[in-house]
Amino acid sequence: MTVTIVGSQLGDEGKGGIVDVYGDAADVVVRYQGGDNAGHTVVHDGHEYKLSLVPSGAVRGKVGVLGNGCVVNPATLFEELDALRERSLDPDVRVAERAHVILPYHRTLDGLEEDVKSDEDLAAGTTGRGIGPTYEDKAGRRGVRVGDLLDPETLRARLEYAVPRKRALVEDVYDLDVGDDVDADAFDVEAIYERYREFGRRLADEGMTVDCGRFLAERREAGDRIMFEGAQGTAIDIDHGIYPYVTSSNPTAGAAAVGSGLGPTVVGDGEVVGIVKAYLSRVGTGPLPTELGSVDGQTPPDGGRPGESDLAEFIREEGGEYGTVTGRPRRVGWLDVPMLRHAARVNGFTGLAVNHLDVLAGLDEVQVGHSYTLDGEELLTMPTTTEKWADCEANFRRFEGWPDVEWSTVAEDGYDAIPENGRAYLEYVAEEVGAPIYAVGVGPGREETVVVETPF
Ligand code: GDP
Ligand code: IMO
Ligand code: MG
Repeated sequence: MTVTIVGSQLGDEGKGGIVDVYGDAADVVVRYQGGDNAGHTVVHDGHEYKLSLVPSGAVRGKVGVLGNGCVVNPATLFEELDALRERSLDPDVRVAERAHVILPYHRTLDGLEEDVKSDEDLAAGTTGRGIGPTYEDKAGRRGVRVGDLLDPETLRARLEYAVPRKRALVEDVYDLDVGDDVDADAFDVEAIYERYREFGRRLADEGMTVDCGRFLAERREAGDRIMFEGAQGTAIDIDHGIYPYVTSSNPTAGAAAVGSGLGPTVVGDGEVVGIVKAYLSRVGTGPLPTELGSVDGQTPPDGGRPGESDLAEFIREEGGEYGTVTGRPRRVGWLDVPMLRHAARVNGFTGLAVNHLDVLAGLDEVQVGHSYTLDGEELLTMPTTTEKWADCEANFRRFEGWPDVEWSTVAEDGYDAIPENGRAYLEYVAEEVGAPIYAVGVGPGREETVVVETPF
């Protein structure tokens, strides 16, 4: 039996917290895509852990696996592991030998391409972690994989092929000078080789690398429970999201199979829990039909609702809506229900965890974008192009607000203790999305979660 945790919106729905709640019953927690662009927060015993690569289960002593679908920056991985060890944890993390490695030039190229695109409003507002360029090289068959770090000859051969091409990109396409404009070491075969061989040695010494699919299959046969921890969210999936303002991987549930080496029947035989933030938040650019207020540098020039900036400010402050990875203020908006219907179909949700219900408490009225109007027609799910999405006018429904209460008591007392108007809101969401409520987040800590169903 497996449980797959998937973001149903634009990332930062509180996946880390739900992995923590449900992951207690799991033995192995697997990331199947993305890299250190993720920022997952776990609050345990009053301590906050912000994890970008180490799977959230590691905080509670579960085996964490970075699957073959991930892109791994070994520098970030070891920094994060060292930081957790300094905090007296002993994380057991395995890395798929088939996962691709983020190299220094990927980060540089991520920044250069975003700079150029920003002139034409095409920048995605990436996290700058080199995610896109690494997946490009994976698809272009010029990537370096974790297994290559263990094999000096292959590592050197891969770098000797790739590095001159990256250097040519900088010089001939971006018209910049390696050394003057960008860090020379990021484009130097020898410098990269030395540094990444050292990472390879450390991975080998600590026995961290695995054949992911085989490792997981063996754990399953031994009776272990496996949880898949999605990063990012469905609306920034490269296939199903708001292209091109997306990440370069598939956060959606189907990728749990491809990105881990366990078959789709294994994933499909388990539960797929969609994580929903009770409103919307977004770090990055592109349209957002239910946006409240606006954020400079992210909201498109004619987007947002500048007249509602007080409301946006309230939600941003109450919800602490500042990026975990980049610290950028997040854009916020009302819940976008067509986005959720789309996510439910793409992922096949068997249940929902709705987080941040507490953040909206105290408002007189809460709204949701129930549908869109596009070219005079009502749409119940997202259109296929982002340009059409930008033209969608949200049709709002109004709900009476709920009071701010002692949420930890509510979590202890259970679902019926949630204020009535809050329950009406949740029941509307479950009905529209077609999946039952499994959990309700009423605060950042694990004990601030109302657990209705336990999937394991
Ligand atoms: P993730 O990327 O999906 O794991 O989410 P992030 O960790 O980036 O962002 C979620 C933030 O909201 C974190 O600071 C969490 O501690 C916090 N959080 C999660 N669930 C809740 C909730 O139900 N209520 C409140 N107030 N905060 C929450
Ligand atoms: P978690 O797992 C929110 C966004 C970036 C940018 C776009 C592409 O914490 O939910 P990338 O660096 O991936 O090439 O950036 O995707 N993005 C996220 N937004 N949460 C995340 O992760 C994100 N990871 C990437 O802001 O718009
Ligand atoms: Mg996050």
